[in-house]
Amino acid sequence: KTIDSLGDLRGKRVLVRSDFNVPLSDDDGTTVITDDGRIRAALPTLQRLADAGARVVVLAHLGRPKGTPDPQYSLAPVAARLGELLGQDVALAEDLVGASAQATVEALADGQVALLENVRFDARETSKVDAERAELAGELAQLADAFVSDGFGVVHRKQASVYDIAQVLPAAAGDLVLNEVESLSKATGDPERPYAVVLGGSKVSDKLGVIANLLTKADRLLIGGGMVFTFLKAQGHAVGSSLLEDDQVETVRGYIASAQENGVEIVLPVDIVAADSFAADAPHQVVAADAIPDGTMGLDIGPESGKLFAEKLADAKTIAWNGPMGVFEFEAFAAGTTAVAQGIIDATADGAFSIVGGGDSAAAVRALGFDEAGFSHISTGGGASLELLEGKELPGLTVLAD
Ligand code: 3PG
Repeated sequence: KTIDSLGDLRGKRVLVRSDFNVPLSDDDGTTVITDDGRIRAALPTLQRLADAGARVVVLAHLGRPKGTPDPQYSLAPVAARLGELLGQDVALAEDLVGASAQATVEALADGQVALLENVRFDARETSKVDAERAELAGELAQLADAFVSDGFGVVHRKQASVYDIAQVLPAAAGDLVLNEVESLSKATGDPERPYAVVLGGSKVSDKLGVIANLLTKADRLLIGGGMVFTFLKAQGHAVGSSLLEDDQVETVRGYIASAQENGVEIVLPVDIVAADSFAADAPHQVVAADAIPDGTMGLDIGPESGKLFAEKLADAKTIAWNGPMGVFEFEAFAAGTTAVAQGIIDATADGAFSIVGGGDSAAAVRALGFDEAGFSHISTGGGASLELLEGKELPGLTVLAD
């Protein structure tokens, strides 16, 4: 169901679940949002609702507080940034469903937007007990006439503000959610081939499901990031003191074998930037991927690997990328991620459909100064986009279809 199915929204209170889980840093005692991509991605739906005369009440979480108010996870910096981007003051209620939330909603005029405090300050939000989540959803529903689900990054969570609330209020998918699902389904449905997937990030164990699924779907799997060392180890190579998930080595061996059976090409780096320690200024050298010296740790794929990955992407028609190739936050270890980003941009210019998924890769693209327009789709979802690529049903989406 789309926003149109909710009818005339003038004067109606519309509760919108957004994903404002943005990275923050502390700049001399002031909290700064280091990447506001998720807030900007939420604007079209919020603006559309405001333009339609709705009284817009936004629900969001930040971080993983323990079900109780915790000032370090307050949405105050988000309310300020959202206000700047929307060009209107965005009031932040001090609570979620209490007196402050009620007064904030009552004070809204048509076309105004307000934000409720972090939904995870209430333990019922993430409760595994259906009745507890339903109770919170019931209280949230008192604040609104309709619900719009637009936090794509949380649609894989069966939580009160994502799942249960959609069962008590007239509910619709927002434009961001629709756009994400439409774009990602170009890879999950019947992708144009060759279909190449680049996976990075630190842990294999986070990506088991998606790798297993891709072994039946993709034509090429390019592996970088911290997880690559478990692959190199599975091939019998020394990995020094690089990140390694010993308990996944066997599983990865199984993946390599089934890739061979299925005709899926697994592309691993041929060289690695190995550093003496995990630090921005650590002494480092480029070494062969099958001979990482003892006492050094791989923090990026090497220059030959960057070229190889770009070649493997050049003729792809569908590309999905999740996870950086190295510790891109440190300039000395950003070249691999840069090479992959550039390879994807070039392939996109040649007609490939490209998806960047995962909070870190999207942040990397922006932090490294790439133009977002060079990619076909930059997803706001981390776990959510992975689970979609994995072929799972996501509770926050199924509840909207029901
Ligand atoms: C994300 O950052 O991927 C989403 O906001 C979901 O956050 P969560 O993993 O804490 O549920």
